[in-house]
Amino acid sequence: MISKQTIDKIFSTIRVEEIVGEYVQLKRAGSNFKGLSPFHEEKTPSFVVSASKQIWKDFSTGKGGTAISFLMEIENFTYPEALRHAAKKYGIEIEEDQKDFSEEAKMAQSERDQLYKIHEVANDFFQNFLWEVEEGKNIGLSYFKERELRDDIIKKFQLGYSPEKKNAFTEYALEKGYSKDLLEKSGLSIFPENSPSGIDRFRERVMFPIHSFSGRVLGFGARILRNNVKTAKYLNSPETEIYHKSNVLYGLNQSKQAISRKNVCLLVEGYMDVISLHMSGIENVVASSGTSLTTEQIKLIKRLTENVTILFDGDNAGIKASFRSIDMLLTEGMNIRVLLFPDGDDPDSFARKHPQEYVEKFIENEAMDFIDFKAEILLKNIGDDPIKKAEAIRDIVKSVSFVQNALKREVYLKQVSGKFGLSEQSLFNELNVQKQITQGQTHHVQQQQKETAPVKMDVVPLDEEKSDPFLFEVLFMENKLIDHMLMFGDIVLKRKNESEEEYQITVIEEILYHFDEEEYRFLVKGNEIIIGHVKEGIQNEELRSGNFFITFMDEEITTKVVDALLPANELENWASRNIFPPNYGDKIADQVKGDILLHKYRYIDYLIAETARELDHYRDSDQTKYFELVQKIMLMKQASIKLSQMIEYSPIKGIYVNRKR
Ligand code: GTP
Ligand code: MN
Repeated sequence: MISKQTIDKIFSTIRVEEIVGEYVQLKRAGSNFKGLSPFHEEKTPSFVVSASKQIWKDFSTGKGGTAISFLMEIENFTYPEALRHAAKKYGIEIEEDQKDFSEEAKMAQSERDQLYKIHEVANDFFQNFLWEVEEGKNIGLSYFKERELRDDIIKKFQLGYSPEKKNAFTEYALEKGYSKDLLEKSGLSIFPENSPSGIDRFRERVMFPIHSFSGRVLGFGARILRNNVKTAKYLNSPETEIYHKSNVLYGLNQSKQAISRKNVCLLVEGYMDVISLHMSGIENVVASSGTSLTTEQIKLIKRLTENVTILFDGDNAGIKASFRSIDMLLTEGMNIRVLLFPDGDDPDSFARKHPQEYVEKFIENEAMDFIDFKAEILLKNIGDDPIKKAEAIRDIVKSVSFVQNALKREVYLKQVSGKFGLSEQSLFNELNVQKQITQGQTHHVQQQQKETAPVKMDVVPLDEEKSDPFLFEVLFMENKLIDHMLMFGDIVLKRKNESEEEYQITVIEEILYHFDEEEYRFLVKGNEIIIGHVKEGIQNEELRSGNFFITFMDEEITTKVVDALLPANELENWASRNIFPPNYGDKIADQVKGDILLHKYRYIDYLIAETARELDHYRDSDQTKYFELVQKIMLMKQASIKLSQMIEYSPIKGIYVNRKR
């Protein structure tokens, strides 16, 4: 873990306008900066950065936060990744707080770090050879030139060249002090018994570094220079501690921004397809690198978009094998379209033949949804054979059965019914059969998801929240009270007690007192955690509010805090008029009081509904318990009525207030 001191140092050093400025062209507008949203294509700027508040807000998407949350958003970093990235930029040394790690875990961490390091060294070595050394220039660079790659693209993808000499890299790395053991573990060198000085895995090949999501080199793909040589065309790094090929997509690092902005990911097969498309200006593309798509890879895409268009060569032999990928994508809830290039073309050759706009239009217009695609492939060459036709339809319905969303499933089924002139009912029956067959598989996928999914903050499942209005209302008010604590926790309120004596209390204390008094059970785990820390703070005579949590080592809590610190209406004001937000302080006292009452009111209604459900349960089985609960409900109803009389909406203040008597 990154130590608290380091986190504080990072937050006090970095400047949001500088970090954002690397991605967005910012222009001064009054006391703020403005620019075009990096998350959304737009012509008029709706992206605002406040240097004095050290926050940003994107009005086109509603996102906003600190410099760190910006990095998380745009690079898809986790919280620690974003912190490390920022620290590196500002030359801040990271102090690790390692008390939570076992010795073993520390060792493993440092081994991974060393593997990253040696790949960085190798990547520099291969690139240097390509650009600076005669052999590399003559063979490697001229190969890329033959394939019409521009210099900027070669650099963008950090392409390189591995020399002919059998231990050029190994020798170089050993001389620099890297151990034999590390070189072997990295897969970059091999040490056979008869050759103790080692051999490079990659020799006389052009090198394609494979990057992680955040841009670290994990391994390499390496291509031979002449197609007729009788060895594998591509040689890839073996699986290592840092490179698991099923978890990686080639080009993701270079394409992630465009994927998220365009809200669609193009999926191709080869390294060169990704690179050529980039060269022609189409940058939302990744490659599965010859292997069939895995669930992990789909999850990587899903962080950016739910829309995938698969691009195939016209004469591709692997099309039928792709059906499995389609079903997997559907199982993961993705929307899929498929495009077949004309015979003889692959994305690489097609992109080099035609201008960007033409390629874009072609992809847009020619891509089919998976039903049309499967129909076209399966119905080709079967003539009028009714049995084969039925088989094909069954196959298509099977794919529909993988669609997770019931509404979408129905729409697709209608489409199949229209396409083949079959009744929806018979297709529906078939669908249910297929679902039973495939349930084993999907169940398995969901099971896996459960095991790997991070702990969810919300204890209430989303569906339940939507269908139970009482629950929704309490949840809403619970979040609101927590937001108040985070935003204005240390503001001191003047109150009067029953005998009209004035006393002072902070927002934090007043809300805490309310939660305790109600013996309130938190519906959101994250809120409970925040309250835990606030209470701990009180015991140490310390008021823990927004700024305490903003550097918290928990991504979801930080995001929550950032949201609380950036109320939308406040920012809308200063975005449109470039003025500072109004001082919230003057109505805080009323607002907190009103919201506490409202929360109490909603909570009682929620408890009434809950108890009523329980009541049903005992109606016939336990009379004593039944009447006990009826009694309880009546008491709660009375309290609820009383509360409703105390609360009043103030249209002037725009908040609920305590009704004056
Ligand atoms: P070019 O032939 O240079 O245009 O490369 P390409 O990227 O278009 O390759 P191709 O379409 O032939 O293959 C698609 C992908 O499959 C490649 O990018 C590699 O990731 C992978 N691949 C192809 N051939 C081999 C091979 O011989 N061995 C391994 N391990 N992977 C290969
Ligand atoms: Mn190719």
